[in-house]
Amino acid sequence: MKVLITGCRGQLGLELARQFNEFNGVYNLIETDVHNLDITNQVMVFELVKAQKPDVIINCAAYTNVDGCESDELNAYRVNAIGPQNLSAAALSVGAKMVQVSTDYVFDGTGNTPKVETDPMNPRSVYGKSKAMGEILVKDTNPRHFIVRTAWLYGEGNNFVRTMLKLAKEKDEVKVVNDQFGSPTSTKDLARCIIKLINSESYGTYHGTCEGSCSWNQFAKKIFEIKGINIKVSEMTTEELNRPAERPKYSVLDNFMLKLVGINEFRSWEEALTDYLKGEV
Ligand SMILES: NC(=O)c1ccc[n+]([C@@H]2O[C@H](COP(=O)([O-])OP(=O)(O)OC[C@H]3O[C@@H](n4cnc5c(N)ncnc54)[C@H](OP(=O)(O)O)[C@@H]3O)[C@@H](O)[C@H]2O)c1
Repeated sequence: MKVLITGCRGQLGLELARQFNEFNGVYNLIETDVHNLDITNQVMVFELVKAQKPDVIINCAAYTNVDGCESDELNAYRVNAIGPQNLSAAALSVGAKMVQVSTDYVFDGTGNTPKVETDPMNPRSVYGKSKAMGEILVKDTNPRHFIVRTAWLYGEGNNFVRTMLKLAKEKDEVKVVNDQFGSPTSTKDLARCIIKLINSESYGTYHGTCEGSCSWNQFAKKIFEIKGINIKVSEMTTEELNRPAERPKYSVLDNFMLKLVGINEFRSWEEALTDYLKGEV
């Protein structure tokens, strides 16, 4: 199977490439990132896709700086909405499946029950709105699509876990918000899920997050507990943090569709985190 991955230098792209390579030749990978395939450039996208004729395109490229999106709106929409549309249309032109990775930020974060795939989107930030538009454009362009919404992702690259470990080397106290809830998710579990999906014809929208939930504050405490780091983790509110982009307060997703098709293999967030931290110093 020939698989084109975009955003290959990002957290998810790196893990996907690693897992595909473990299958020893089953997958023929075309690994791209912005230096050789800018997904906002329609001509480039179509030229590469027509030349390579992949069976699947997995879009891991995104404008992921949530606060940056607020002051760079047009670029956020170009990367998070037009880019996926270009890829989805190019996929259609060669009969390829299309995977678009999306986010819990397409919801407003109100309520206190996990969201299922059919719940209405109501994004509150530019990032969330641009990703929601990306989902719609992919759906409208190519019926053979998988939209996979994930959240609180960590893997190879900059992420919350690494930030906490770095801060612990510099300080003896960290302040972390305790009024936003979600499900920390390992790129390992998400990549495994995407590989299962692309080998199926079960097109549609999926939630893909590790099981269970916590606040960012509880997430930080668990990181230090697992690593045996003695540091004070004090609480702060979202209002005190005062970031440019609005964050969903209750951002827990139910992997309902994955459960229905019988491939929900996400571990608990604590188990996946313990596994990840074995490799972190
Ligand atoms: N990280 C999270 O907590 C989180 C949560 C929910 C959903 N998601 C979604 O999960 C997916 C993967 O996230 P991630 O954490 O792996 O992201 P990431 O580490 O930020 O990687 C994104 C990659 O996309 C590249 N990129 C940016 N603009 C591009 C363009 N125009 N053309 C091609 N490549 C471009 C980036 O390159 P540069 O670094 O050079 O810009 C980077 O290598 C994204 O769709 C994201 O929205 C992430």
